[in-house]
Order: sequence, then C-alpha cells, then structure tokens
Amino acid sequence: MRRLMITTVLAGLMAAASAFADAPKGAWVFDNSPEFPGFTRLIIDGDHSRVTSKWYGDLPLTDLKQDGDTLVFKLYNGNPRVAMTDIIVKPDGDKVRMTGKVWYQDFDMTAHKGDTAEVKALDFPAYPLPDRRVVTQKPLAATPPMGWSSWNKFATNINDKTIREIADALVSSGLRDAGYIYVNIDDGWQGQRDANGALQPNAHFPDMKALADYVHARGLKLGLYSSPGPKTCAGYEGSYGHIKQDAQTFADWGVDYLKYDLCSGEAFYHTPETVYATYQEMGEALNATGRDIVYSLCQYGRFDVGAWGRQVGGHLWRTTGDIEDNYDTMAKIGFDKNGVANHTGPNGWNDPDMLEVGNGGMTTDEYRTHMSLWALMAAPLVLGNDVRTMTPETLALLTNREVIAIDQDRLGAQGLPVQKDGTTEIWTKKLSDGTIAVGLFNRGLSQASVTIPWDKIGLKPKAVRDVWNAKEITPANARTVTLPAHGAVLLKVKPAL
Ligand code: GLA
Repeated sequence: MRRLMITTVLAGLMAAASAFADAPKGAWVFDNSPEFPGFTRLIIDGDHSRVTSKWYGDLPLTDLKQDGDTLVFKLYNGNPRVAMTDIIVKPDGDKVRMTGKVWYQDFDMTAHKGDTAEVKALDFPAYPLPDRRVVTQKPLAATPPMGWSSWNKFATNINDKTIREIADALVSSGLRDAGYIYVNIDDGWQGQRDANGALQPNAHFPDMKALADYVHARGLKLGLYSSPGPKTCAGYEGSYGHIKQDAQTFADWGVDYLKYDLCSGEAFYHTPETVYATYQEMGEALNATGRDIVYSLCQYGRFDVGAWGRQVGGHLWRTTGDIEDNYDTMAKIGFDKNGVANHTGPNGWNDPDMLEVGNGGMTTDEYRTHMSLWALMAAPLVLGNDVRTMTPETLALLTNREVIAIDQDRLGAQGLPVQKDGTTEIWTKKLSDGTIAVGLFNRGLSQASVTIPWDKIGLKPKAVRDVWNAKEITPANARTVTLPAHGAVLLKVKPAL
C-alpha cells in the first residue's frame, strides 16, 4: 500500500513536470532562427550551457536563472557597446521557445530536441591562434593611401558594372591623377565557399580576376574586404578558419589592398592578445602570398591599435567607429577621435574612416572642414561618394592639389590642435618643406572670428598662403580671420627664420 502510494506520487510528479524539466540536460536544435543571429542550437548541460550562433560561435548562458519551467539568461552579443538583455526559454509542447534580443535583432524561435548526430553536426569549430610574432611590414604606404570605397554611398548595393564605371569615372574626372588610385570593394561582394573551401564572389561579381584586370588596365589598384570572424558586419562570409586560403585567393585575383574588419570576430577575439593574434595571422598570410597588398585594419580603434598596427603588418588602422554623412559625426571623429598622433607616419596611418564629401548630408563649408581636418591629420583619403555623378563643386573639394599635398606630405606628421577657444580651434601640421599648415576651424552654428596668436604658437609668419583659395595673403592680413558656421580656412605658413 505504502509502496503504491509512493509510486503514484512519483508518477504524478513526473506528469506534472513539463517536457522542459529535461531541458537542463538537453540539446535543442533551432527550427527558425533569422539569418542574424543565426542560432543553430541550445545546449543545457550545467556549467557548459551555451547557444551556438553562425556569427558568434558558442556563447555561454550568462547569469542563468531558472524560474519554474522558464530559463532566463543573457548572451554576450558580440558587441561590447550594446548592453546584454534578458533572453527567455520556455517549454512549447515538445519543443522550447526562445525569445529576446541580441544586438539589434529581436527574435522568437522554437527548437526541437536534437538527436546526437544532428547536434554534433552543429559543433562550431575553434581554431588556434598563432603565437605572438612581429610581422614584416612591407613599405607600401609611404604616404596615406588614397582611393575610393563602395561602402559610404552604396553599402551592399554593389556589382561588377558599378565598380567598372567607378574606375572609369576616377580616370575621366582626373581623380586618379590627383592620387586616388585604390578602388576598394567593401562589404557585400562575397558569395559562398566551393567544395575546397575557396571563397567565391556572389552573382553580382561574376569574375573577380577580370574585374581586377579591368581596374589595373586603368592605372588603378583593386581593394577587397573581409573579416577574421565567420561573418562580416553585413552578414557575408568572413575568413574565419580560411585565413591563408583567402589571402591566397585575393592575391590570385590580383587584389592590392585588404580591409580586414573585426565584425563578428569581436565575439571570438575580445582581448588585446587575441585581437593582435588574429590580425597578425592575416598579416602573415598576406605576406606569404608574395603579392604587395596594403593591409587596412578595421577594429574601431580598440586596444590602442596604433601602438601595434605596424607589428601585425598593417599600413592603416581605424581609430574610431563608423563615420556618417552628417557634421556631428564627422566633427566628433575629425576633431576628437583621430588616434595618437605619434603612431602615424610613413607606412602606418591612423585612419579616422572614409570620406563623406559629396554624399549630400553636409554643406560645402562642412565638407571643406572634413577635407581640411583629414589633410591636417595625414588621414587616408578614401572617397565615399558616387564619382560618376558628382558636382563640379564636389570635384573641386576632392582635387584641390594643395590640400592633397598637405595630406600626402612625406614627413607624415599628424596635425594637432594648438588652441581651442569657444567654438574655434587652431591646428598646425609640420610639412617637409619647412612650412607649417595651419587649420582654422569654427565648430559653431554662426560665423566666428579667430585671431591667430602667432607668438603663442611659436610661428612668425613670413609668407602666408590661403590654400583653398590658392592665393597669397600678407602676414598682416593673416591675423584675424572670419570663418563661416562649421567652416574652415587652411593656411600654409612659411616661418621667418
Ligand atoms: C563596418 C565598418 C564599415 C563598413 C561596414 C561594412 O561597420 O566599420 O566601414 O566596412 O562594416 O559592413
């Protein structure tokens, strides 16, 4: 009797327990994950409980709590700038349902109990990183690289025809002859890997080698884009697990420049050591191809990248998050996020991101400020506009030879502010011919005057040239200068000895 009672109680308890009571030891396979975050499975096995994502690999369940039949936890979302929020798993018949948000993506998906083979097939491969080494930095960027990139204007709406037309326009507009020689295809060109793991372009780029030949035939160079992560920022195939193979593919196609963007790699590499190692790995792989390929690091300026960018073979490194076509973002970067000045110099450049000049979101004065700041900073000048259809005014801003000469000066010094006073700033940059470039800026919304304290900045002007207007001004007239709202004046000053 007593025994029967116990059995009955146990049976009742078991019936009351939902399917989910098994979940803490279960492996669940998702049925309907959106492409991002590409969740494949949920494994609940005590200390190693995890969710696997095509973007981020295995993510541990952080702050895991059980509340009745519901699990609540957080997932590192690959992006330390975005707060982690609660993710909820509940039973749903013989499945489980997982709802929440990762990064910018809300999701609501179900998962079925996976069998061993099915779960195993979703194992996410881990690849060891190389031991720390210093990579030989090839001398491929004596002055800051100049070119064009597809991202700011076209994002992923790119194809072979557009890139060819851009190459033609760089030539016919005179931009190539002004120095803009790299034609960089940013995110969105990638297709799938073939049976041997070789990365193929997508259908918009039928023949990458032929495209490189086309670009080269016009006296230009071709740039491509990839990521150390499994996915690029726009969700295309990254180089994770295929570093050497991809470097060789790029070299075989005739690529001359690689932008290597951390993207989903930030979930795998979020310490200074691992980020160094993953950039080192591609730097070594590029060198091993024997082809000269400019190496552009894009990891948003983390871990003081300017201090070690050269040591992984890099020629430029982003100092900031993404620029946008508006004055506030451009000014925030240009005035305040341009990296540590003494990291920049021949063959290794602080990169405050690509240009927005000509994209329509700023006034001419604001774009002149943008160009003036980038030139003073010795920033790479990578055009971001549609050079097939730009206005003469845009072309004039982009091809002012004297402004470009300040950017491209062979000393490679990065200009710095010498006075900040209210809304105005004065910047100077030492040039190789003994002259000094002086930038006068007004960050305010109305016209402002700035009086240049020549003594204080240690400069006695003998001759002064107004660079944008290509005319000499007498030193006496170069004392108090009026600047339009958000405007800039660039001077080239010959000091009295
Ligand atoms: C990141 C980079 C951008 C651009 C996009 C492409 O946001 O910082 O410059 O390359 O990825 O997806």
